Amino acid sequence: MRSTVTIHRDYTISVIDPRLYGSFIEHMGRAVYTGIYEPDHPTADEDGMRQDVADLVRELDVPVVRYPGGNFVSAYNWEDGIGPKEDRPVRLDLAWHTSESNQVGIHEFSKWCDSVGTEMMLAINLGTRGLNEARNFLEYVNHPGGSEWSDLRRKNGREAPWNVKLWCLGNEMDGPWQTGHKTAHEYGRLAYETAKAMRSFDKSLELVVCGSSSATMPTYPEWEATVLDHTYEEVDYISLHMYLDNYEKDTAGYLAKSLTLDRYIETVAGIITYIKAKKRSKKDVYISFDEWNVWYHSKKRDEATLAGEKGWPFAPPLLEDDYNFEDVLQVGCILNTFINRADVVKIACLAQLVNVIAPIMTEPGGAAWRQTIFYPYYFASRFGRGTALKLAVDCPTYHVDNIGEVPMLDVSAVHNEKDGYIALFAVNRSSTETIDLDVVLQGYMPGSVIDDQVISHPDINITNTASKPDNVRPEAAADATISDGRLTAALAPLSYRFIRVKL
Ligand code: AHR
Repeated sequence: MRSTVTIHRDYTISVIDPRLYGSFIEHMGRAVYTGIYEPDHPTADEDGMRQDVADLVRELDVPVVRYPGGNFVSAYNWEDGIGPKEDRPVRLDLAWHTSESNQVGIHEFSKWCDSVGTEMMLAINLGTRGLNEARNFLEYVNHPGGSEWSDLRRKNGREAPWNVKLWCLGNEMDGPWQTGHKTAHEYGRLAYETAKAMRSFDKSLELVVCGSSSATMPTYPEWEATVLDHTYEEVDYISLHMYLDNYEKDTAGYLAKSLTLDRYIETVAGIITYIKAKKRSKKDVYISFDEWNVWYHSKKRDEATLAGEKGWPFAPPLLEDDYNFEDVLQVGCILNTFINRADVVKIACLAQLVNVIAPIMTEPGGAAWRQTIFYPYYFASRFGRGTALKLAVDCPTYHVDNIGEVPMLDVSAVHNEKDGYIALFAVNRSSTETIDLDVVLQGYMPGSVIDDQVISHPDINITNTASKPDNVRPEAAADATISDGRLTAALAPLSYRFIRVKL
C-alpha cells in the first residue's frame, strides 16, 4: 500500500511549545507513595525519592509536571503538606476513597522536580476552597519574603520563591464527580475572580481555566463558551481532558479514536475564536490538554476501592493500567495529533507519570520499569522539539461508523532547527498491509537517516512486566533510505515508527 507525504520547508504549523510533552502526578494510588517517594526503597536518596524512578523520568526529559491533582486537588488543603513531617495531618481523600499522609507536599515535590529537571504546573483547589486560599498559596510559593506566607515558606526551609508560572484554576469542574462541582456560570465567575486576584499579584502568570473533562460530557461544548465568556481576558489556556479505551476489543475502531481527539481540539479552537471575536479581544487563548492517555485496563479492578469496600487505605494500587502493544499505536496517534495541532495546543500532560495510568511502573521495594507506552512518549519528548510541519498526506483510508474515513497512515513531522534534523513519527493503522512510505522533502537538503526505530509485536495484547520489562521495546529498523530528496521506508502492519533525518 503506497502512501505519500509531502513536506515543504515553508509550510509549517507552529513552533512547538516544549510543554506539549508534559506529564502529571496526582496524590492518588501509588503515584507519589511507592511511586516517586519511598524512603525505605534501596534506591531512595536522602529525601526518600526513588532514584530508579527519577532516572526513568530524566530519560523522558519531561518539561513540566502538573501537581497535585486531578480530582484530589478539589478537596486538598495545601497547608497540610508543609512544616515538620511528623506534624502533618492524615486526611481522608474523598475523590479516591483513600487516606493521605501528607508526607509529600510542595517542598518535597519541588525538590524532586529540580532533581529530574522539570517545571511545576500547580493546580489550586476551587472545589472546596476559593480565592483566599489560592492567593495565600500563591504568596507562599512565589513571594520572596516579608509577608506572612512567604516568611512561613522560608521558615520551612525554602529561602527563594519557586516562581511557578503555570497555574490551573481547579480541576474538571464540569464533572459531577468533582468535590465541589459547579455549573459553568458558578465556575466561570469563581475562576474569573480568582484569576484576577492572582494577576494582581503577578501579571505574568500563565493561568489555565477548566474546559471539559471529555468530549462526551453533556455540558460540552456549551461549558467552554460559558466559562470563556466569563474568563477570557484573565486566562491564557483552557484545559481539556480525554482518555481513550478499547472496551470493544476492536483494533481498527480503537485506533480511529484519535480522530475524535482532533475534532475535540478543532471545536474548542473554534469556541476560543468565537469568544475572542465576541469580546473584540486582542489577546489569544490556547489549549492546555493537561490530561490525556489510554485508560480502561484497570477500571474493573478499582471498583471496590472506589466504592469504599476497602476502607480508607494509604496509597493502594489504583488506575494501574497494564499497557499493551496496541496502546503504543494509540499513544503514537495521540502525540501525532498534538504535534499536528501545535498551533492551538501549547501544553499537554500525559496522565499520569508513575504507576497511575503511567509510562513508568514500580513495585514497592522492588523494580521500576518502562511500560509499552513509555516509548512513543520518549521519542516525541526527546525529538519532537522544534517546528511542527504541515504535511500533505495521500494514503488509503478505512471506514469506522460514527467516526468516518480513517487514514491508514497517522503521521507528524518536526523540524528541529537547532540540531538540524527532521523527525518523523508514524503509525500504520492497517493490521494486514505494509505501507510503502514515500516522503518528499521539498526545500530541504536531506542528508542521511540518523535514527530509524520501529515498535511492533505479533501480539497486540502483550505488556511489559517487572519480570519481563522488554517484551515491547523499540528495535532498529534498517530500511529507511534517502535518495533524490525523498525518504522511503516500509512500515509494517500495526507498527509505530520513528525516523530522524539529518539536514
Ligand atoms: O488522571 C486520573 C483522573 O482523571 C484525574 O484525577 C481526574 O482529573 C480525571 O478524571
